[in-house]
Amino acid sequence: MKYFIQTYGCQMNYSDSERLTTVLKKLGYKECDHYNKADLIILNTCSVKQNADNRIYGLGEPFAELKKKNPKLKIGITGCAIRKGTGIRGECKDQIFRRMDTVDFVFRIKDLMQVPEILRKLHHVEGADEVKDLLNYFHIDPTVANITQVFIPIMSGCNNFCAYCIVPYARGREESRSMSEILEEVEKMAKRGAKEVNLVGQNVNTYKPSDASPDSKETPFTQLLRKIDAVQGIDRIRFYTVHPKDMTDDVINLYGELKSMVPHLHLPVQSGSNSVLKRMNRLYTVERFKELVSKMRKKMPNISISTDIIVGFCGEAEEEFMESVNLIKDEKIDLVYVSKYSERPGTLAQKELEDDVSDDVKKERFEKITEIMKDVSHEYNQQFLGKTVQVLVEKVAKGYASGKIPEYKMCRFKSDDPSLIGEYINVKVDKAMEWCLEGDVVA
Ligand code: SAH
Ligand code: SF4
Ligand code: F3S
Repeated sequence: MKYFIQTYGCQMNYSDSERLTTVLKKLGYKECDHYNKADLIILNTCSVKQNADNRIYGLGEPFAELKKKNPKLKIGITGCAIRKGTGIRGECKDQIFRRMDTVDFVFRIKDLMQVPEILRKLHHVEGADEVKDLLNYFHIDPTVANITQVFIPIMSGCNNFCAYCIVPYARGREESRSMSEILEEVEKMAKRGAKEVNLVGQNVNTYKPSDASPDSKETPFTQLLRKIDAVQGIDRIRFYTVHPKDMTDDVINLYGELKSMVPHLHLPVQSGSNSVLKRMNRLYTVERFKELVSKMRKKMPNISISTDIIVGFCGEAEEEFMESVNLIKDEKIDLVYVSKYSERPGTLAQKELEDDVSDDVKKERFEKITEIMKDVSHEYNQQFLGKTVQVLVEKVAKGYASGKIPEYKMCRFKSDDPSLIGEYINVKVDKAMEWCLEGDVVA
């Protein structure tokens, strides 16, 4: 039996798929490289925007064709499109069954332990008994896609209810993993060769484990960062996502102090306008965001700051939008993940505000932010010209090896040696483009 997992969305989903992979392998499934060869297709879905949902529903027909060719084929859906529990068609009432009649089963990722039972019924496969008895899916050992750069979930869910966002409905309330469990996982990954740890959670600053030190003056997240920094072999720690309202000075103080705090921070602002932030229920001001950026730059003057921006949120006037443009320019935000606002059912914005910015205007604003970001990023990258940077190689293709430098910029150099993947290589930069640096290896 062969499986194919398609993952959409954020790092959390990619990390969850690594645990799902372990379960499928324990059940005897073998991975295949294309969904049309599979006996089991699982979609790990994202629901953050309408087009992410549409992409899933659009697969209904192609799946019907595949099922005609392969009657053994079963289709499962997990991730953020699932709202009403776990089970096979007929036993579970999730709306997906109504909208896609080719789907055989759905499961909430936290019910991953029930997947062996479901597949025993659907495919008569056996095994993975130890998984069935686990209390939490985080206890499943992930089958890591890239061992040098690992993704480690530290919490799931979100309590913030930003007006536009589906995540608290899709993922439920915040739940933190214990510090000891996370450390055990980091140590295990470091022994297997991990060099970079990416900590994942919707709001990492409110990480609240059961085993944080109660006497410490530092937040549990800071305590965790210190412990991970001390793990032998780990040289880079990144984390996603920080909420500006919860970012604390004790985390900022670690920059420059801990060896593995990289000169890059992803700090999603969503809008440069206080009135829009208010409508979004973000609970901070633009001034607060600027203050955080300035504190970070005092610690690390050349730090790269990336952000998320939503354009065309309910009632966004041209002047409000221009405040986002100016914020990116003024604060030199060198990477922006920009999204056109997409109304999500059940959210505060859908219930109380009007999605009144036209698609054309959203598109124009999207393009404008992208243009500005290109300029800022191009300018930021010039500082690397003539300098030697440390590349953690991720990929070797088409005559180039490439990977990220600590500042989260891609850098490439000529090589077709796949054994470099996972190695640190020093490169002297001689070209600095918008999205990529290029140079030659230095001894
Ligand atoms: N926890 C993170 C965001 C997670 S969702 C935070 O607080 O920043 C990832 C990104 O998707 C968000 O930062 C936002 O920019 C975008 N997004 C979320 N809901 C959206 C919506 N309804 N329409 C458009 N973009 C959205
Ligand atoms: Fe969504 Fe806001 Fe939670 Fe981020 S903090 S996941 S944007 S509700
Ligand atoms: Fe999407 Fe869920 Fe992540 S909605 S962005 S996959 S938490």
